Amino acid sequence: MFQRLLLFLLTLLLIQSSFHFEISSALKEGQTCIVNKNCDTGLHCETCLANSNLRPRCSRTQPINPISKVKGLPFNKYSWLTTHNSFARLGEVSRTGSVVLAPTNQQDSITSQLNNGVRGFMLDMYDFENDVWLCHSFGGTCYNVTAFRPAIDVLREIQVFLENNNEEVVTIIIEDYVKSPKGLTKVFNAAGLQKFMFPVTRMPNNGGDWPTLDDMVRQNQRLLVFTSDRGKEASEGIAYQWKYTVENQYGNGGLKAGVCPNRDESAPMSDKSKSLVVVNHFPDAPDLVIACKQNSASLLESIKTCYQAAGQRWPNYIAVDFYKRSDGGGAPQAVDVTNGNLICGCDNFAACKADRSCG
Ligand SMILES: *[C@@H]1O[C@H](CO)[C@@H](O)[C@H](O)[C@H]1NC(C)=O
Repeated sequence: MFQRLLLFLLTLLLIQSSFHFEISSALKEGQTCIVNKNCDTGLHCETCLANSNLRPRCSRTQPINPISKVKGLPFNKYSWLTTHNSFARLGEVSRTGSVVLAPTNQQDSITSQLNNGVRGFMLDMYDFENDVWLCHSFGGTCYNVTAFRPAIDVLREIQVFLENNNEEVVTIIIEDYVKSPKGLTKVFNAAGLQKFMFPVTRMPNNGGDWPTLDDMVRQNQRLLVFTSDRGKEASEGIAYQWKYTVENQYGNGGLKAGVCPNRDESAPMSDKSKSLVVVNHFPDAPDLVIACKQNSASLLESIKTCYQAAGQRWPNYIAVDFYKRSDGGGAPQAVDVTNGNLICGCDNFAACKADRSCG
C-alpha cells in the first residue's frame, strides 16, 4: 500500500513538475526528456513506473487527425480518441465548494482534450441543484462530494470548439440519469449546441453506412449525441446509444486479454445491424499509475481482439482513462493504427496518403 502511494505521488510529481520549467528544445517521441517543454508539439514528458520504465521520455498525447488527409468517407470509417468520464479531472474541486471524493479519470480540461484530438466524450449526467450536472453516483443520486460541475460548463467548451473549428465532428455519449422533463434538451439548447446536432432521422439503424464526414460538415451536423436512456429517442429526439452502436464490457471485464464480450446493454459485438463500434479499455477503479501500462500494449491487443469479435470491424471510439498516459504511443497510437486500417488498409495512419494508398 505504501509502495503504491509512493508510486502515485512520484507519478503526480513528475507530471506536475513538467509545468514549472521553461527549457525549450524539440525532442522526438521516445527521446529522454526532463520536462514537457523539451518535447515536440503533440508530445509530453513522462515515465511509466508501472512498467518499471523510470526514464522520462517524450510520449504521444495526440493522434493524427484523420481529417488532415481523408474527409470523404462514411463516418463509420473513422476512429476517434474517446475519454471515459471526460469531466472527472484529477484535482478538481466540486463547483458546490465541496471536496470531490469520487474517483477521477482524466488530467486535463475538455478544451485541452479537444485540442489534443479527443473527439468522443463519455459524460455522466444527473439532475442536481435544479440543473443537469456531471457527477458520479451512489444509486443514481448525485451528492455534493460526487458532483463535479454543471453540464453546461463542459457543453459550452464543446460549443466554442465546434464554432471555431468548422470541419470537426464531436460525439457525446451520455450515461443518462436525468429524469427532469426535457432536461437534456434544455441544457443542450442553453449551451448553444442544438444547431450542431446530427439528427436521429439520418442515423442508419440497420447496418448501413453513415453519411460521409464531409457531408456532415457541409450540413453543419457536427455533433453526435447518444443517451443510455432508451425513452429519450421518442421524447427528445436523442439517439438511444445501443440502437446504433455495439460496445464491449467496460471496467475490469474489458481488460481481460483475448476476449471482447459485449456490455449487457449492447447487442453482441458481432451484430452488424449497428454500424458503430465502441471499445472500452479502462479498469473499474481509475488508476493514474497503471494507466500508462494499460493504455499501451494491452490496449492494442484489446482493439485487435475486439476487431475479431465485432466481425472484423475496427472500433470507431476508443475509450480510455488518463488518455495522455502511455509507455510508448499509447491511446493516440491505437487510434492511428485503427484509422490506418479503416481508412487505407495500412497498419498505421502515419503511412496513409490522401488518395488512401499506403506510402
Ligand atoms: C451542497 O452544495 C450546495 C451548493 O451547491 C450547498 O448549498 C449545500 O449546503 C451543500 N450541502 C451540503 C450537505 O454540504
